[in-house]
Amino acid sequence: MIYKFNFSRTIINWFHKHGRKNLPWQIKKNIFKTWISEIMLQQTQVKTVIPYFKKFIKKFPNIKKLSNSSLDEILFLWSGLGFYNRAKNIYKTSQIIKKKYNNIIPDNFYHLLKFPGIGKSTAGAILSLTFNYFFPILDGNVKRILKRFYNIKKKYQLEQKLWKKINFLTPIHNSQKFNQSMMDLGKIVCKIHQPICKICPLKKKCLTYIKKIDIKKNKKSKIKKIKKCWFIILKYKNLFYLKKQKYTIWNNLYYFPMFYKKKKMLKWIKKKKINFKNKKKLKKFLHHFSHYSLLIKVIIIKIKKIKKIKNNKIWFNFNNPKKIGIPIIVKKIFFKIYKKNKI
Ligand code: ADE
Repeated sequence: MIYKFNFSRTIINWFHKHGRKNLPWQIKKNIFKTWISEIMLQQTQVKTVIPYFKKFIKKFPNIKKLSNSSLDEILFLWSGLGFYNRAKNIYKTSQIIKKKYNNIIPDNFYHLLKFPGIGKSTAGAILSLTFNYFFPILDGNVKRILKRFYNIKKKYQLEQKLWKKINFLTPIHNSQKFNQSMMDLGKIVCKIHQPICKICPLKKKCLTYIKKIDIKKNKKSKIKKIKKCWFIILKYKNLFYLKKQKYTIWNNLYYFPMFYKKKKMLKWIKKKKINFKNKKKLKKFLHHFSHYSLLIKVIIIKIKKIKKIKNNKIWFNFNNPKKIGIPIIVKKIFFKIYKKNKI
């Protein structure tokens, strides 16, 4: 009998031997766990997500517990994972599910699509990975495999083209295993840099491999833009002044007053009647984001008395921290302050 190549069967066979079957969201799986994991896995690697997912599920084991919580509690568990809009979307979605769906997550593609932060691929992932419903997914891993397998270079209508391919390849009765196989193959074998083509189950039919087309070993490292900024640390005994600043990279998280312009920072100090003479400084340092870096200058000012503060501002007790979302940079600064004995 002549062996006929079958894309889905080939990679599902590979998955049985080499795929990941014990990730925390795959154990006693349900739609709640799949939803949370898929949102966490957007733009973030599995190994980074695992500890955050475990903590999250311990605190919020089901939709009811989650929908009765607050955005601050969710952000507290999200602190350090980045892309905080995802946490906000989870909160918003939980409120919709509570109000409109009686705390039951719908297993309907079109209903899921209406929730914030859930697009076609994530909705498909939630339903196929939980219930084995027939839905293709097209995340970064799947796109990369398809582009290499078919040697697709064109940018024009690329998304549509890839959706067409993956619709065709996804098996009707086994989309759960197929989708997980694709993501695992992308992560383990068909990697962004230095894919391990020798062990790839698709290599015999992969156009990029057959044509020996070079895969760029490493993208040229782009020079990132650097933006300057100032953080003002107001300290009273063990209390630190933090505020929620809207419309910034750390939307909805609490952090130190931050300024991109020195003039604005000085104006703020003056308005608050803060004695600027007793200041200490930390050595300036860089904090990196994917597209730019911040050159951060930290100024620490001890103050003698504190005034009452309004919403969105708190005096954060470092020795008895309140459960709120703070970005990693704030933790980094606390660490620097205490390590260097600056206070
Ligand atoms: N990336 C997105 N979803 C994933 C999943 N379920 N497993 C591994 N990587 C993923």
